[in-house]
Amino acid sequence: MSDPGCGARSAIGRRAVLAGLPAACVLSGCDAPVPSRTRGERPVPGPPPGPVRQAGVIEPPQPHTLFLSYDLTPATRGAPGRDAVRRLLARWSELLAATAPSPTATVGIGPALPRRIGAGAPEGLRELPAFAGEHLDAGAGGGEIGVQIRASDPGACERLAGLLAGAGAGVLLPRWRQAGFLPPQASGPFARPADGGAPRDLLGFKNGSANPTERECERWVWLPGPGPYAGGTFLVVRRVRLRVEEFVRLPLARQEAIVGRRKGGGEPLGGGLERDASDPNARTPEGGYVLPADAHVRLADPRLDGGARMLRRSYSYENSPADRGLLFLAYMRDPGLFVRVGSRLAGADALNSYAEQYGSALFYILPGPTPGRPLGSMAL
Ligand code: HEM
Repeated sequence: MSDPGCGARSAIGRRAVLAGLPAACVLSGCDAPVPSRTRGERPVPGPPPGPVRQAGVIEPPQPHTLFLSYDLTPATRGAPGRDAVRRLLARWSELLAATAPSPTATVGIGPALPRRIGAGAPEGLRELPAFAGEHLDAGAGGGEIGVQIRASDPGACERLAGLLAGAGAGVLLPRWRQAGFLPPQASGPFARPADGGAPRDLLGFKNGSANPTERECERWVWLPGPGPYAGGTFLVVRRVRLRVEEFVRLPLARQEAIVGRRKGGGEPLGGGLERDASDPNARTPEGGYVLPADAHVRLADPRLDGGARMLRRSYSYENSPADRGLLFLAYMRDPGLFVRVGSRLAGADALNSYAEQYGSALFYILPGPTPGRPLGSMAL
């Protein structure tokens, strides 16, 4: 990631704007006067112009994550419910400012929340449709408030989760949670320590290689302004159980044909570098396609969606030897993109024989907080 633009903005966003602000103001949403500069003082750099984003979307991922999904308690509804949610998010803004940058947390709202508390909602915040042949477990997905915590160790994730849950007492009911990790790069047969590429998933493939650059994320990930939803984005979460043993027992060439990229370096089957796009038209000397018709990356190719991109930031999870896989996390401006890609994959992806998508959720990631405007004050 060479372009520091929006990563820098989101990191500055929360810390710089909340640091030095009286906690009570963050909580109450008061419009505290900005202290004026006295002569001779060096100018304090303010947040860059443009909508402020939450931390955690675009930055290089931390090794551990904990995803928490909540519903509101039955009593939290209507106008009083809306006030309670706004108070909660203000309190969370304060907690997150105090604990950032280690760990970070990113907060979103689910499709049912705006209706329930009488708030507006961004276009696109609707339940995802079910795809052909999938059997989703409703209790393992969905949710009215979603939080993704990331940290260098699982304990730090849990500690922040405890603080957030404490602040949510009486307002939030836990719905589902999933811990995740990035497998260490420096071990295993395909290790390429510190090669700067995407992390590997449990199938041993680099996952995230063909992600958009930060500049491309400006176009495809962040919601543009003006308006109350600018600076937000959508997060699609899928909990995918993988048949790891079965897959890794396949001959390497078969594994690579299923995914559509090389296992070692993540490059396209036809050659090149890890970040290079695949060439769907490349032919073998015998005249066949290098990339099989049912290869995962052929079906997921952004050129089939007019070039639209999603930023995939998935983690691996292991709940038990029989229940491990991918915590698929993808950020995008338009959840319709996920629906289109997911429909193509559902029907034809060769990976489907080794993957079971059993949990699904969509969240609108709120714009980042600014002075006097904690999380949720713009969009809710
Ligand atoms: C079933 C679990 C899944 C696994 C193990 C998996 C794994 C991979 C791998 C290894 C790649 C190639 C490297 C890369 O660019 O990251 C890839 C690419 C990709 N995957 Fe998945 N994926 C899964 C599910 C999904 C789902 C559910 C979607 C979206 C509906 C998706 C969308 C994509 C996209 C957009 C690409 C990039 C294609 C390109 O630009 O060439 N994947 N995936």
